[in-house]
Amino acid sequence: MDSLIVRGGHRLDGTLRASGSKNAALPIMAATLLAQGACHLERIPVLRDIATMLTLLSSLGATVSRAADGAVRIECDQACEVTAPYDLVKTMRASILVLGPLLARHGKAAVSFPGGCAIGSRPVDLHIQALEAMGAAISVEGGYILAEAPHGLVGTDFTFDITTVGGTENAVMAASLANGTTVLRNVAREPEIIDLVQFLRSMGADIAGEGTEMLTIRGVPCLTGGTYSVMPDRIEVGTYLVAAAATGGRVRMTDIDPSVLGVITDKLRSAGASVREGEQWVECEMDGKRPQAVDVTTEPFPGFPTDMQAQFTALNAIAQGEARVTETVFENRLMQAHEMRRMGAHIVIEGNTAIISGQPSLQGAPVMASDLRASASLVIAGLVASGETRIDRIYHIDRGYENIEGNLQSLGADIQRVSG
Ligand code: UD1
Repeated sequence: MDSLIVRGGHRLDGTLRASGSKNAALPIMAATLLAQGACHLERIPVLRDIATMLTLLSSLGATVSRAADGAVRIECDQACEVTAPYDLVKTMRASILVLGPLLARHGKAAVSFPGGCAIGSRPVDLHIQALEAMGAAISVEGGYILAEAPHGLVGTDFTFDITTVGGTENAVMAASLANGTTVLRNVAREPEIIDLVQFLRSMGADIAGEGTEMLTIRGVPCLTGGTYSVMPDRIEVGTYLVAAAATGGRVRMTDIDPSVLGVITDKLRSAGASVREGEQWVECEMDGKRPQAVDVTTEPFPGFPTDMQAQFTALNAIAQGEARVTETVFENRLMQAHEMRRMGAHIVIEGNTAIISGQPSLQGAPVMASDLRASASLVIAGLVASGETRIDRIYHIDRGYENIEGNLQSLGADIQRVSG
């Protein structure tokens, strides 16, 4: 199993191109199940989760291929399988995103129930409720969600009890081919939802309201393939900007509209960074200064993203002052704090809040990644720690960061991947 070895103490300095967004690419790839004709998807990142989704689509009968430039071609005309098996779903929760498209296209689907995972129980009850509201009959048997709508899904008016990104995505995909109009209320407003809607619209779907709390979807009889370029990964970009701030350095990220970063940039400025933005770039510069502690509370978009919480915990661990980092989206998502303590961080957990007293420095130590974003935060901690940090279980990081060690090396970090 691979590990990352980081020798801290180098200020990051340089420029990187933003990868395509994992969290936009996954639902968009699932949505190709709705299309008649091939879909050419550009800017699909090279990641484990993407490979898992490609394997899942192949197992459903799709023809998939990846070109040298990263573009992916998916053709689902012959995709007649309707079962997403346990072995694939257990490795990636986002596999649940094929449920809505399979049901809408074939009138039935069997998707293994995604288990609990390291960041809380993460149920899928709201995905199921939305599809039931569209007329699907859903049961759970042998660990599988069995869904049926033999006469097709029907338009409905459905309100999500709580805001869910995946639930919104499943419902909007399914509603695209339903009979009649569906109104979805209290939907997630994340930029990745907007990207999915724009992709569906490019396939011929009739959807209004993306980026607001209400989506109106007028079902159409069929959708067609086409070419689409996935949005940049705002969480990857945010992670490198935080790494710049933590190390007192400067990093410019290109090929990204900085407005999608929202409050991430505000929080970096509160930490004392100078953040400059251009039409398709954003730069964070710390000029050798130690960051100021900055409080964050995670919320659905446009609030502070839960996927950036761990990275700001690392920043606060070496900041001047005391910070409170509160996680409200997921239970059990402060686990990186325990590993950071092993590196000398002063963090007390009270309920869903980490209270962090910033230290002038951290010390390298062997640590273990527990989930994707926690892994990234440990890399940031390693970059600012004295001595050597060995991060084990980095398969988590490969799920969501393309070539992280190569990118950080190009910014001047001392980081190596070792097998063992
Ligand atoms: C997506 C992102 C993930 C991000 C999260 C929140 C992808 C592939 N993953 O995950 O990186 O951290 O959004 O921004 O895009 N919930 C229920 N019932 C449901 C569905 C969700 O109770 O049926 C709860 C969850 O347990 C959680 C909250 O709703 O507490 C938000 O989860 P959700 O927005 O659905 O996250 P994901 O789509 O799984």
